[in-house]
Amino acid sequence: MNSKHETTNVSDSNSITKQTDEAATTVIEMHDCSISFGGIHAVQNASLSLKKGEVVALLGHNGAGKSTFIKLLSGAYKRDTGVIKVRGEEATINNPRDAKSYGIETIYQTLALADNVDTAANLYLGRELRTVWGTLDDVAMEAKAREVMGRLNPRFQRFKEPVKALSGGQRQSVAIARAILFDAQILIMDEPTAALGPQETAQVGELIKQLKKDGISIFLISHDIEDVFELADSVAVMKNGQMVGTAPVSDVTRDDVLGMIILGKCPPGAVRGPGAIDTELA
Ligand SMILES: Nc1ncnc2c1ncn2[C@@H]1O[C@H](COP(=O)(O)OP(=O)(O)O)[C@@H](O)[C@H]1O
Ligand SMILES: [Mg+2]
Repeated sequence: MNSKHETTNVSDSNSITKQTDEAATTVIEMHDCSISFGGIHAVQNASLSLKKGEVVALLGHNGAGKSTFIKLLSGAYKRDTGVIKVRGEEATINNPRDAKSYGIETIYQTLALADNVDTAANLYLGRELRTVWGTLDDVAMEAKAREVMGRLNPRFQRFKEPVKALSGGQRQSVAIARAILFDAQILIMDEPTAALGPQETAQVGELIKQLKKDGISIFLISHDIEDVFELADSVAVMKNGQMVGTAPVSDVTRDDVLGMIILGKCPPGAVRGPGAIDTELA
């Protein structure tokens, strides 16, 4: 197989049209990304892509390499090898600032909120709006906070309280609203519901559905297979730092996904990754 050379046989205009179509819907492509820590291959030749308005769930056991892989996209770690494309163009992502410049924002489990101040102050932390007199424009910040939060979480009313008084689900919406205010087009959520009860988990699910409606693309790292089947369009499973496979959720069953996680066995409905075991062994 030598597809690179074969493309010279295809008419130029055709290949250009195809490329433009793909670039319009695929917002992130990660190709063969690797990183090692002192000889340990935390992530090895992992590839994954994300389309506009799509939720891709990343699953796998603890230590499988999910957080590390996604940190190559958020710029928290610099990859040793691999190519990352954003909207079809090769991207330079060497630190979190680079990632943000491409509209990639990460919601960390810790949320990184300033506990003692209110929602508006958290949304504008470090980039406060000011009046023409140079004083803080609290009115404008609260108005914008109400607008963004109203879209994400219409029932939220606790604008005057410090965020430490809010529930876990509400805090999650504040962190997401902040990313949206930063013009996030691509959100990375690493186990957003790990510390939440069932009701709050459901609330975060509603947030994700709302973000998806707004055309935001999401990488969702999750442990909860039910959540994944409810919220995600596609699943990707990692094991021992490698990608086992990826599949649209409609093409795999829960048991298929469990087999991917536990055994590294890639089902027929999925695209095999380098981490999939030979099916004869399964
Ligand atoms: N900063 C680091 N230094 C050394 N090893 C690390 C570091 N970050 C992650 N690892 C290792 O990489 C592997 C993958 O970890 P991680 O990405 O956190 O897994 P997951 O998120 O799937 O639970 C683990 O073996 C972990 O110990
Ligand atoms: Mg993790």
